[in-house]
Amino acid sequence: MNSQQADIGMIGLAVMGQNLALNIADHGYTIAVYNRHAEKMKDFISQCEKNEPSSSRLLGAETLEELAGKLKRPRKIILLVKAGEATDKTIDSLLPYLEAGDIVIDGGNANWMDTIRREKDLNAKGLRFIGSGVSGGETGARFGPSLMPGGSAEAWAELAPIWNAVAAKVDAQTGVPLPGAAPGKPVEGGVPCTAHIGPNGAGHYVKMVHNGIEYIDMQLICEAYWLLKNLLGLESDAIGKVFQAWNQGELSSYLIEITGDILLQPDPAGEGYFVDKVLDTAGQKGTGLWTATSALELGVPANSIAEAVFARCLSALKDERVEASKVLQGPEAKMEKDQARLVAAIRDALYSSKICAYAQGFQLMAEAQKVYGWSLDFGTLAQIWRGGCIIRAKFLQKITDAYAIDPNLKNLMLDPYFRDALHSGQNHWREVVSLAVLNGIPTPAFSSALAYFDGYRSARLPANLLQAQRDYFGAHTYERIDQPRGQFFHLDWPAENRPQLKA
Ligand code: 6PG
Repeated sequence: MNSQQADIGMIGLAVMGQNLALNIADHGYTIAVYNRHAEKMKDFISQCEKNEPSSSRLLGAETLEELAGKLKRPRKIILLVKAGEATDKTIDSLLPYLEAGDIVIDGGNANWMDTIRREKDLNAKGLRFIGSGVSGGETGARFGPSLMPGGSAEAWAELAPIWNAVAAKVDAQTGVPLPGAAPGKPVEGGVPCTAHIGPNGAGHYVKMVHNGIEYIDMQLICEAYWLLKNLLGLESDAIGKVFQAWNQGELSSYLIEITGDILLQPDPAGEGYFVDKVLDTAGQKGTGLWTATSALELGVPANSIAEAVFARCLSALKDERVEASKVLQGPEAKMEKDQARLVAAIRDALYSSKICAYAQGFQLMAEAQKVYGWSLDFGTLAQIWRGGCIIRAKFLQKITDAYAIDPNLKNLMLDPYFRDALHSGQNHWREVVSLAVLNGIPTPAFSSALAYFDGYRSARLPANLLQAQRDYFGAHTYERIDQPRGQFFHLDWPAENRPQLKA
């Protein structure tokens, strides 16, 4: 076998690594693949030899030295290992076999601060580092993910041909994902769902916010399902059909589509529907938490994203909830009679809340770019999320359009299309949140999104009182509405000093 013939290398052959490697091979690139346990690599290669048209472009490597030896210079090596310690360990073990100019690409869900640190460390050794978000799950990795690379522009220029080739493609005019990729037959043409996001940790930050939005998108869908079930008494299949119908309109998205599939799925292990047999506790791996934490740290009101994380935390307290359900009482949910009307109202509540969720995610990125010195192009971000990723949706085209009209848009809700959608949806949205409250059905995502909308559109909030409280107990000072901003006052609060109203 010739040495130095592979265009790129892959470390980590769990499903995402295997599938991305095959996607790369399908696009005509030769890829050297390595796994910590060589047996896994060998099994992968031998399975591919049986089933995959592009298997001749996969080169197995049993050691990191062998992997490095098989790569064209400067080397490009993708890491798809468990984010965190494993990434650092893998980089450390790889270092002895790398040379100045080589590029390490981390495709895991890394924390952006780790990516900033890793890039700095590798740069100091003459190496280059790209932290790339990879979204789309197993199928995305295999047939076209959305890719969010961050790193130096010149490192990106070298990776770009491969990333552009393997990314999902959307139609240039409509932004609709191009279907039809199959093993050995990649989609031809279209606009790739990838772009250089910015330096160092920018790509991983944007991928993290993508996941934060994914959390709230999923939570909103779950609340819609729960309302349809508890206010209309619908069975899973009937709710599935509602989601299928919604998927034909402006809510059309991957998550709505798979929700329809899930709800219509019979239980393979017995009677009834699959979803009714799944334990109601949700897991999480950290990216939603990081998004909420970053929002808190940067002072950005991403309350619905945080609620989506808390909703998972609350769901995880299954045993406590079961016990509490025997002690704490609420209203009995009353069935609504007008099904068509309520379905339409929930649809509007879902769409309006979704607009707020995205507004929060984009507002967070707008703040983060100032703090981390990035210059994010929000229209492009929405563009590369139109296909391949988990939050892909028809709706993303509207966000792209909004930033094309006004690249400095302060908040998505202010764009004319989204403003009008909120105006026309809000009566239904309020009705749904009220019904949920009156019937004791928890809807933290719907409710917090509505509170965000109402808060953001309020010229005055009760923070005047809050600031006065702070001044009262801590002399934290306050500004006055009748004085220029930036001038701070303090009232002498002890009762004897306090000025009294003139009689
Ligand atoms: C994606 C997904 C993917 C994964 C997340 C969410 O974009 O393909 O976001 O990265 O599903 O890690 O994981 P948790 O729900 O477990 O936090």
